[in-house]
Amino acid sequence: MKTEHAPSIQRADYQPLAWKVETVDLHFRLEPESTVVTNRMLCVRNREAEAGPIRLWGEDLERLSLTVDGQAPQAVREQGALLEIEADGERVVVEVQTRINPKANTTLSGLYLSNGGFFTQCEAEGFRRITCFPDRPDVMARFTVTLEADRKTCPVLLSNGNLVEQGELPGGRHYAKWEDPFPKPSYLFALVAADLVAYERTVETMSGREVLLQVWVEAGNLDRVEHAMDSLVHSMRWDEETFGLELDLDRFMIVAVADFNMGAMENKGLNIFNTKFILAKPDTATDVDYENVESVVAHEYFHNWTGNRVTCRDWFQLTLKEGLTVFRDQQFSADMLARAAGAEGAASACAVKRIDDVRVLRAAQFPEDAGPMAHPIRPDSYQEINNFYTATVYEKGAEVIRMLHTLLGPEGFRNGMDLYFSYFDGQAVTCDDFVEVMSEANNGFDLDQFMHWYSQAGTPRVKASGQWNAADGSYTLTLAQSTPATPGEHAKLPLVIPVAAGLIGPDGRDCPLQLEGESQPGPTTRVLKLTEASQSFRFVGLTAEPVPSLLRGFSAPVILELDEDDARLAFRMAHDADPCNRWDAAQRYAERVALAMAADPSAGVPAAFLDAFRALLGNAALDPAFRAQALALPGEAYLLERMKPADPLALRAALVRLMRTLGTSLAAEWLSTCEAMQVPGPYRYHPGDAGRRALANLALRYLAAAGNAEGLALAQRRFEGATNMTERFGALAALVQSTHPAREAVLAAFHARYRDDALVLDKWFALQAGAWRWDAAAAPTLARVKALMADAAFSLSNPNKVYALLGTYFRANPGEFHAADGSGHVFWADQVIALNAKNPQVAARMARALENWRHFVPALQASIRSQLERVLASPDLSPDVAEVVGKALD
Ligand code: ARG
Ligand code: ZN
Repeated sequence: MKTEHAPSIQRADYQPLAWKVETVDLHFRLEPESTVVTNRMLCVRNREAEAGPIRLWGEDLERLSLTVDGQAPQAVREQGALLEIEADGERVVVEVQTRINPKANTTLSGLYLSNGGFFTQCEAEGFRRITCFPDRPDVMARFTVTLEADRKTCPVLLSNGNLVEQGELPGGRHYAKWEDPFPKPSYLFALVAADLVAYERTVETMSGREVLLQVWVEAGNLDRVEHAMDSLVHSMRWDEETFGLELDLDRFMIVAVADFNMGAMENKGLNIFNTKFILAKPDTATDVDYENVESVVAHEYFHNWTGNRVTCRDWFQLTLKEGLTVFRDQQFSADMLARAAGAEGAASACAVKRIDDVRVLRAAQFPEDAGPMAHPIRPDSYQEINNFYTATVYEKGAEVIRMLHTLLGPEGFRNGMDLYFSYFDGQAVTCDDFVEVMSEANNGFDLDQFMHWYSQAGTPRVKASGQWNAADGSYTLTLAQSTPATPGEHAKLPLVIPVAAGLIGPDGRDCPLQLEGESQPGPTTRVLKLTEASQSFRFVGLTAEPVPSLLRGFSAPVILELDEDDARLAFRMAHDADPCNRWDAAQRYAERVALAMAADPSAGVPAAFLDAFRALLGNAALDPAFRAQALALPGEAYLLERMKPADPLALRAALVRLMRTLGTSLAAEWLSTCEAMQVPGPYRYHPGDAGRRALANLALRYLAAAGNAEGLALAQRRFEGATNMTERFGALAALVQSTHPAREAVLAAFHARYRDDALVLDKWFALQAGAWRWDAAAAPTLARVKALMADAAFSLSNPNKVYALLGTYFRANPGEFHAADGSGHVFWADQVIALNAKNPQVAARMARALENWRHFVPALQASIRSQLERVLASPDLSPDVAEVVGKALD
């Protein structure tokens, strides 16, 4: 079926606006069902643009009045969300008054209610749902905001910048006036009016200014904000030390809200967060939650410079701020882990963080790049911008920045950043501006070819082959690159690909590397710059045939194709000096075994694999966190993309057998590992402890999968005796992922303990939605998911609940979701249609779960296609869902 496309917006069509806004004065009379917004804008003619009308956007607004310099406007044209006003002169005051209904706003974009409080989310285009405005990032204005609300229900009134005035009003109401000294685009506007309390700290910035830091939460959550505050202080220090960037406000506020579409938002001086990324205490948050809080707090804080002070000219440039800021938060987290691990553990801690990031990239971004939504990190067109807050723009975007960092070196990169701010502070710019300034700061370093990373979609393949010449002791490594075609983009140009390479000698030690023509050997890892379609590198001075270790530290976001037999993978699993590649060798070997077992239900687990696995598990010299990574099987979504055609049911059957065999064959080792990984003392968030807990929990998973009685008993004891959520949930997960009869009882006990804790209940929902069937007689997971939708704690209106229950089932449980009878697909369509009416952004995220359906076996394709068509034909489809489903069917 060919579908009619919604109009798509083209990057090439960018035009500056004829009028900009210099200052904007907003007044909010906040009432749940009828909020009146009075907006006074000083509009100024843009000398860099062609003459034209003042253009404002407005969506879902009831317009009460509109004046230009106090008069009725001469001419107003309206088409859809766009309002065009003719005006004379150079500067005019436009005043517009609108009424909105926050209570009815279920999209969580614009101004909405959550638990009785008022909150906003404006990125990307939510501000136009609050008032009429030139709602584009290239319009930077100075904001003054007055909030007026009921004092009892909304004792706290916050907006961007500094509080300049507050007071009482008649009728039990009060007001507060805020002024943001920095010009900003409208997507960074925020207000909060709610019943909250603040956890505060005063700190000194690098230049000796005192600043007030606040984390605002509901009163009952005050005991779980310390970690977020610590993370904020650490982020401030890190940005000062690493980039010389200082907080530019006297007050920096973070607010946590339970209803939020995404993770968090970097509004100037008033970051708004999903509670999931703020609240943490040992009894309710896992080590991973602690890590996520730290990195998301850092991410939003870092946006203050990379995003807010220098912003994007248009939304196609989103990766300018997101790719760069993700790279910054990744570096920050690695540094924090390294610092906590101490001198000895630092390298391994950094590697473990890198492995985490690579796992995310492979699980989320590689499939996106291979599907109908594939786009370059800087897209050329979109129908709905909210669909482009993607793993490609964020995570692949961060990889592109990382490659720049690799090519220019840390100092060259820092010089580029300094120059970037010196040129562009206070401006809205493009990705070209960024890359050009990086080049300029590095003696004109040629980055022309590098720009293809911004314009080409698809995951590049690098095929490597080596030729050993015993006669002269040389090894010639040939690297060939190619990128598969993606929608609308057939011919691909060669990219600049930094390939960090090492050569391992037969003794397992790295060889000194000397390239032909060099007078002496250099370090044992070096970065080869692949720029041609195919290139050879000749290493000399070797005494025996080496084993190549390529793409060390995952130096580029590519798929490395390397012909390695099992023995070689086992060798690298045992010896590769680069932890990322050592992990990768284990993953490749596990992938090979899993896919072979999926292709042949009678195939078993090769003894050599068991031996290699056992050796890693028993290697006490290796960091437990690393072992936990290396011994966890590759993600199911990643494996499905590697399977041609993808057969989720066959894969699941193979994974069940593989987990069981690994659990049974290594039972003694898992049991002793679990014992050895005990963490004494009270809980602390520390990478060393977290690694031990992760390995112990993994051991329980294998033991439970295998139905090992001792392991199951151990899991039960750990569940009951746990003093922190990481151990309690780890034990619970192991029990739920087993055939143990106590499954239901422990789930119920967990629920009873946390019945009033929304974030912990999200874990409870997700665990059940992600459950595999370990015994053939068990009911399908879908039955459980449906039953849980009726649970009092579940709500289709709360994104966290939807992501936990439906998101986990659709995205993280392919072996159940793709049941042969198609029941999962019908359920998917029902839920996408229901969500579409409430919250298009959330609906579109769920809709994406089936986009790679063409990779599946034919029977599943037929079942999925009919449900995709049903969604596409349903009435009142949002542009968000229409784009996703339309492209999937194209
Ligand atoms: N800029 C935010 C962040 O990355 C994300 C906001 C996404 N909003 C959206 N509607 N897609 O930190
Ligand atoms: Zn961001």
